[in-house]
Amino acid sequence: MADRSDIRNIVILTGAGVSAESGIDTFRAEGGLWEQHRVEDVATPEAFARDPELVLRFYDMRREAIQTKQPNPAHEALARLDREWEGELLIVTQNVDDLHERAGARRVLHMHGTHLNAWCTACDARSPWRGTLIDRPACPECGEKALRPDVVWFGEMPYEMDRIFSALREADLFVSIGTSGAVYPAAGFVRNARDLGARTLELNLEASQGSHLFDESRHGPASVLVPEWVDEMLG
Ligand code: OAD
Repeated sequence: MADRSDIRNIVILTGAGVSAESGIDTFRAEGGLWEQHRVEDVATPEAFARDPELVLRFYDMRREAIQTKQPNPAHEALARLDREWEGELLIVTQNVDDLHERAGARRVLHMHGTHLNAWCTACDARSPWRGTLIDRPACPECGEKALRPDVVWFGEMPYEMDRIFSALREADLFVSIGTSGAVYPAAGFVRNARDLGARTLELNLEASQGSHLFDESRHGPASVLVPEWVDEMLG
């Protein structure tokens, strides 16, 4: 990484690779989630309309599973950077687990939603949720039995895009960690950041689809690369 003295504002994009070493399946690896399940069956509004039981069961299982997992050294290093970095910092995560927060990070934005909220399609309230939805519980706010996972499905708009673009506009450094660069708009952030003048760094197990777009790309497990990079940043 070039001289860090002129870096004040950082945007970090994380993907499934940051949670892989905590035992949470990634999506596109061999044996990953999208090999075990068809996206069109479980992760679209149409799938939910067609077969709500299948979709709710899929997310209930995932919600239960993430609660048994623990943050790994990559989450912990990012939480340390969040605590100690005096400039602006935003961790934009595509992950729907809460491992960044459980490691202690505070400046986290879940652009694809979170497993740990239920969203009421009747009154629009979002309620913290740890149990199941398959049994069609009532919304704690309005009492309607219209809760769905608060997870962004294919064909839906990711959350807080305005806030993300405003952080990208201010960013001196954009870092992408553990994401394949296969899903837009997140996959486009590196181009946006570069066009807006930021330096760009990728930390990923292997070369990704978009590696050539970064100023620098480092390959290896997040549990090693992220603590090393955070040490460099904090000096
Ligand atoms: P993917 O499964 O597409 O990619 C995971 C990336 O992490 C790959 O590039 C792996 O090489 C890398 N990786 C795996 N293990 C790693 C490790 N230990 N250390 C570092 N890198 C590692 O997951 P995402 O890019 O997060 O969206 O997928 C993006 C979106 O597609 C998800 O948020 C989800 C999915 O469909 C929705 O459901 C809307």
